[in-house]
Amino acid sequence: MGRIFNFAAGPSMLPEEVLKKAAGELLDYRGTGMSVMEMSHRSKVYEGIIASAEARLRKVMGICDSYKVLFLQGGASQQFAMVPMNLLSKDETADYINTGSFAKNAIKEAKIIRKVNVIASSEEAGYTFIPEGYRITDGARYLHITTNNTIEGTKFPDIPEVGIPLVADMSSNILSERTDVDKFGLIYAGAQKNLGPAGVTIVIIRGDLIRDDITEYPAIFRYRTHADGASLFNTPPTYSIYMVDLVLEWLEDIGGIAEIEKRNLKKAKMLYDCLDDSKVFIAGARKKDRSIMNITFKTGNDELDGKFVKGAEAIGMTALKGHRSVGGMRASIYNAMPEAGVEKLIDYMKTFEKNI
Ligand SMILES: Cc1ncc(COP(=O)(O)O)c(C=O)c1O
Repeated sequence: MGRIFNFAAGPSMLPEEVLKKAAGELLDYRGTGMSVMEMSHRSKVYEGIIASAEARLRKVMGICDSYKVLFLQGGASQQFAMVPMNLLSKDETADYINTGSFAKNAIKEAKIIRKVNVIASSEEAGYTFIPEGYRITDGARYLHITTNNTIEGTKFPDIPEVGIPLVADMSSNILSERTDVDKFGLIYAGAQKNLGPAGVTIVIIRGDLIRDDITEYPAIFRYRTHADGASLFNTPPTYSIYMVDLVLEWLEDIGGIAEIEKRNLKKAKMLYDCLDDSKVFIAGARKKDRSIMNITFKTGNDELDGKFVKGAEAIGMTALKGHRSVGGMRASIYNAMPEAGVEKLIDYMKTFEKNI
């Protein structure tokens, strides 16, 4: 059958060029006689790989020297805990906005560590929009947001400017469009959507937010440890970081963030236009808050939704089933999803609609 269009929410498609390059270097990485997987993380060659990944990320995202870039493990879920562990001392609090299942998880985990204020939520409306008109709590040390809500298909249309450090879970839209990193105190993201394979988590943190006065947690959970150790405090996920470097190289080669943003906006518009023109499919998110990465929709009839997903699978489009908490369909169209994949999905949607 060959390669299919994989609409999964993550892990998800990787650029074919990247997979081919990795395959070519699998047995013998650039004359070293070994795979990157077999290489010591303390070797000169590997130090070059991790330094390259960091340099490319800094260049592609425009991250200035006052920020540290860390390659960690434990996924975005570990950051749900590490953020409050590192940014809040005993009597300090933080504000959170509850915009989806992962935001809710971040809140739940942070509450185990410190006191958290949920200053806005769209939970009661099924997370179909991004709330507005909230107020920062006096004394809150940071505001946590989930810039793109993977399961519900919403995205913050604008980045809030609130006068306290903004902490963002950017797992599902990092590198999808231009981002002004200076607006954030801390950005974190699991790699398995736009950055590379699962296993590595990126943390971008403003240097002055790394605290030395909170000493109650083991070294592995402190940003200071990883910043001082250049992400080599312990064995990092070496192969995943190498793959991130290749993905970033691919991104540079195609024209960087500006080009991928153009492609992503086009793909998302094609799909949303199709949904808006349809008499059968209904888009899941409020128009102004629509994600350009995860597009949720449904017919309103579970049986018909099931038929749609099954039919897509049969012609080489996989993982279009929506998350069980939302139902319906979800098309995750990350950076590596070619326009041809979106075209094929739209053709199928139109044919499906005609035939019911
Ligand atoms: C927005 C968001 N946050 C957090 C997570 C959890 O990430 P991980 O599985 O890397 O812990 C995900 C996973 O899909 C996500 O999409």
